[in-house]
Amino acid sequence: MKRIEIREVINKAGETVKVCGWINARRDHGKIIFIDLRDRSGLLQVVFEPSNAAAYELANNLRPEFVVAIEGKINQRPAKMVNDKIPTGTVEMTGEKLEILNTAKTPPFELDKDTIKVGEETRLKYRYLDLRSERMKNNIIMRHKIIKFFRDYLDRQGFLEIETPILTKGTPEGAREFMVPSRLWPGKFYVLPQSPQQFKQLSMVAGLEKYFQIARCFRDEDQRGDRQAEFTQLDIEMSFMEQEDVFNLTEGMMIEMVKALYPNKKFTEPFLRLKYAESMEKYGSDKPDIRKDKNDPDELAFCWIIDAPMFKQSEAEKKIVSGHHPFTMPNREDMEKYPGEPLKWRAYCYDLVLNGSELCSGSIRIHRRDIQQKIFEILGVSETEIKQRFGHMLDAFEYGAPPHGGIAPGVDRIVAILQNEPNIREVIVFPKTGDNRDLMMDAPNAVSKKALKEANIQIADEVTTKAKAKGENLYGESTSVAD
Ligand code: AMO
Repeated sequence: MKRIEIREVINKAGETVKVCGWINARRDHGKIIFIDLRDRSGLLQVVFEPSNAAAYELANNLRPEFVVAIEGKINQRPAKMVNDKIPTGTVEMTGEKLEILNTAKTPPFELDKDTIKVGEETRLKYRYLDLRSERMKNNIIMRHKIIKFFRDYLDRQGFLEIETPILTKGTPEGAREFMVPSRLWPGKFYVLPQSPQQFKQLSMVAGLEKYFQIARCFRDEDQRGDRQAEFTQLDIEMSFMEQEDVFNLTEGMMIEMVKALYPNKKFTEPFLRLKYAESMEKYGSDKPDIRKDKNDPDELAFCWIIDAPMFKQSEAEKKIVSGHHPFTMPNREDMEKYPGEPLKWRAYCYDLVLNGSELCSGSIRIHRRDIQQKIFEILGVSETEIKQRFGHMLDAFEYGAPPHGGIAPGVDRIVAILQNEPNIREVIVFPKTGDNRDLMMDAPNAVSKKALKEANIQIADEVTTKAKAKGENLYGESTSVAD
């Protein structure tokens, strides 16, 4: 018999069906055994009675998280037995045939309850169990729905989904970069992209006009609740456009998505627009939380922050750094009015803030070589470095680069806020800890001497000394388990 999903049983009263899943809970009432069977689609109560001896005997062995296949008849429950807490609560199954597909050890925490209070290290080590819990499963389902909505929306607007390289050269977004040694080019490194910024601009030079990507970005920076070293952007770029076009596209997409997937949420449209200077003056922040009631889980307060400064004075190094990134177009009037004072220039850049969190960031880009060169000079990038790091961008701008711009909504933050989660780890399927470890896979980890040699890497003496002092293993094993 072909297995059906649990959500499908509601209309099957009177029929014999087969369901598969995990034992969510077991209750014994006198001689009768009640099982809550769980699959991704829901829960179903299954009853095993002694009259059906074979199945009953086997059901006696069932423990939480055992994996089973059950065949049996779906029965309408009498009105007073209806369980309105679960969608299948009007029916139950009489278990007739039971097959145990796999047994399970007792899980380190209870999966039929919200796991939010369980220690996070344990939850991350056993993430595959945590994800079986209702809240975590829903977060992953809603993440899928949100991403699918964005994808379909942009497809309807004529955008192309384009994949850009992960093994690449650095793109400056203000964080430290992850490096990957090249085996074939000893001493040389790829860099993982902090964002596909340069590739999406080069796609505009390529005439692709409307680009998007569900893009994984990598930044080796300190973690916080709303930051991961590896995160996802809905990266967007378009040609022959103005700021207003990006506002309309993004705002339209967000509004339609929230209305379709979160009909209970309340928000004001059009979104409020605040100039950066105004926001700083009024709220002392460029990420103002303008909710009326911060305790209302259904209130969403979106606001655009526009006209941010082109440059900032870096406190640490006392030098001029980009407000957004160096590819952002400075405000033309400001450039002309204050030619020698770049700190007074505003930029054509914008952030979308939601409930006090920076959700999206973007800008109109420079598409002319002379302006881009000037910006690098203001940023104190040397002639050689400009050539080495950004020569390809400057060259491309000389072959008919169209005016272009875009935005990058942070997918993890969007899902976390909409799902009312306290941090983005709750909505990422396999996230890392605050100190950047994957506790389930145990990464980062030592690699074998052989692998290091192939990658032309030698571990620094000080690292070796420290590891020895701590009695740690510096090298991993290298047994090959596949061809
Ligand atoms: P930016 O660096 O502002 O812009 O990033 C855009 C959005 O990505 C999200 N984000 C993060 N989410 C989780 N963890 C992180 N470490 C993290 N860093 C950023 C935020 C943020 O608003 N290339 C430009 C975009 C552009 O100009 O089009 C960029 O990456 O939600």
